[in-house]
Amino acid sequence: MTVTAENQATSLSTLLRTGSQAEHTAAEGSSFMSELLAGRIDEAGYAHFLGLLRRVYEALETAARALADDPLASAVIDPSIERLAAIDADIEHWGSTVVASPATDAYVARIQKSTSWGGLFIAHHYTRYLGDLSGGQAIGRILGREFDLDGAGVAFYEFAAVPKPKLYKDAYRARLDALPLDDLDRQRVLDEVKAVFGLNGGIFAEMTTYLDVYRR
Ligand code: HEM
Repeated sequence: MTVTAENQATSLSTLLRTGSQAEHTAAEGSSFMSELLAGRIDEAGYAHFLGLLRRVYEALETAARALADDPLASAVIDPSIERLAAIDADIEHWGSTVVASPATDAYVARIQKSTSWGGLFIAHHYTRYLGDLSGGQAIGRILGREFDLDGAGVAFYEFAAVPKPKLYKDAYRARLDALPLDDLDRQRVLDEVKAVFGLNGGIFAEMTTYLDVYRR
């Protein structure tokens, strides 16, 4: 693991954002995401995806409970933004499909392992929840339009406890930046963030193999 000079000169929140930009661009460009947002995935396809997301958030939120008193992880853990209940509400709308998913298995295993050090769990928390509060907000609106949902089935993208995502994200970043982490620790967090993007990419890649099944 190498710590570069520029990493040492910047805050953790900036390090995570700029250090994972390439991974973020790759995630945005995944064909599953672009097909979904173009309205070319049917309801069954979204139900399949939701079923996988459910497993991811169940693992995240179980790990969060185990780390509730962890000196590092507790800086970001916030039960008011948990997504499991919202996903279950959406599953009521879309239905859910149980499909074997090696990509999700790998992701869940990595989340479980991240409880060994709060900094690793922070990487998992940051990548999903800050993403949901960022691009996720636009994704929810696009899905609502593409499927003509009239508000139903997109609870996952709605954070009742966060009326102003920008303010929430600013405060979240301030909490990240106040963590007592040395350069090597910060690098470990960044490396895990990159790995988490890769695991999300694995789920997208897996979903891409179903494009013909779920063509709309
Ligand atoms: C089509 C897919 C996506 C779009 C259009 C998108 C778009 C965006 C945009 C516009 C922002 C910046 C918002 C802001 O500065 O407030 C953002 C931030 C973010 N996104 Fe995405 N995103 C996508 C997919 C993803 C995925 C799959 C992940 C991870 C699983 C993710 C994780 C993040 C994170 C962690 C941030 C916060 C960066 C930071 O400020 O530190 N995004 N996204």
